[in-house]
Amino acid sequence: MSDAPHVTGPAFVYGDGVLRAEGVALNTLAEEVGTPFYCYSTTAMSRQFEAFSAAVNGALNPAPLVCFACKSNSNQAVLATLAGLGAGADVVSGGELARALSAGIPPSKIVFSGVGKSVAEMEAALDAGIHQINIESVEELAMLDEVARRLNRRATVALRINPDVDAGTHEKISTGKAENKFGIDLPHAADVYTRAAGMDGIELCGLAVHIGSQLTDLAPFREAFSRVAHLVGELRGQGYQVHRLDLGGGLGISYDGGPPPDLDGYAAILADEIAPLECETIFEPGRFVIGNAGVLVSRIVRIKQGMSRRFVIVDAAMNDLLRPALYDAHHHILPVIEPAGDAVLKDVDVVGPVCETGDTFAEARPLAPLETGDLLAICSAGAYGAVMASDYNTRPPAAEVLVADGEHAVIRPRFEVKDIIARDQLPPWLSAPGGSGKGPARR
Ligand code: LLP
Repeated sequence: MSDAPHVTGPAFVYGDGVLRAEGVALNTLAEEVGTPFYCYSTTAMSRQFEAFSAAVNGALNPAPLVCFACKSNSNQAVLATLAGLGAGADVVSGGELARALSAGIPPSKIVFSGVGKSVAEMEAALDAGIHQINIESVEELAMLDEVARRLNRRATVALRINPDVDAGTHEKISTGKAENKFGIDLPHAADVYTRAAGMDGIELCGLAVHIGSQLTDLAPFREAFSRVAHLVGELRGQGYQVHRLDLGGGLGISYDGGPPPDLDGYAAILADEIAPLECETIFEPGRFVIGNAGVLVSRIVRIKQGMSRRFVIVDAAMNDLLRPALYDAHHHILPVIEPAGDAVLKDVDVVGPVCETGDTFAEARPLAPLETGDLLAICSAGAYGAVMASDYNTRPPAAEVLVADGEHAVIRPRFEVKDIIARDQLPPWLSAPGGSGKGPARR
């Protein structure tokens, strides 16, 4: 248990025998809010955002624009907190664009990424007057040109290139290899740049790259950035202006208490590969900012002794936090009440109540003795947790709470089952008073 501060940062530490978020006891929050709930720390996310900004600022001139990747956590309170620190937003849908704007992020700090932007999303981005649209294919470029001309606008565009670099991360979150759907393949990039430069609806500003998420080895960043730099040289050699580079997100975090990826090393790569190009730069970190600033607190419903395994069944499930089921992701788990220093650890499987074997948070995890009713904190759950939640099994997803300086507030209440059911609508033949008889008569 001694590694708690290291795993989740100083924001989640034991104090007086209870795991606390900035001093707020998680067991008190559980009484007030019910379980499961996400708890985010303002201090932790701010510290990470500022550390990232300082590192990239130190490496590059002019000062980069740091656009928080809203896909990692788009709660309005989180976005508003980061907006207060000067963050922009990286959005990937019309919905995220609306969220960023409504949280007070100025359009001049919003970039829109993603392979499948619809006409309506392009129109919304142009109407809002956002900073930049990242284009991922020649087909998308042609569509945006048409939409912009129809609206009498020019879209500020960066071409996202696919540098064919293996990010060395989980295959489902790797985006920079030639076989991935993302970006314009490097060999075609110069041609597409030439085409874009001749389009009336397109104001071409530069290039974008993002090779994947949860990178812990920095070598793929260096490889990708050096390929970008080479392409910039080539384009400039052909007489094109390239004055802006969006270098994406992807810098990982520690999920297991190991050393976090080296931020200074990342900055050194930028200084070597990107600074000499003298471009404006944009970054899109998500997980690095919010990943370790959140925990998912859950209560043990039952402990079941199986033939070979001991199952700790909790009231959170894969519908609340999908990462273990989807990516076999490791999340550290801490009892909210601090175990005795000499507690003997026992291997248990921590599982949710959903009817799928994949609904497992941890297998053979050594934990101190636990009882029904105890609270567990699933760590490093601030990124890609609540945003990926669903109401599978008609389970209302976890509530969300934000703490700051000893204060706390619910930033998304738990939905009620009746509200979930109320979203469904019966067709006319089933909803007429007493039923029209049509439905059953069909069978
Ligand atoms: N920019 C682009 C274009 C992206 O596709 C992503 C993430 C980011 C920025 C932010 O990456 P980050 O800094 O957070 O690594 N659900 C998965 C992660 C999916 C990431 C998708 N793209 C997970 O839970 O691990």
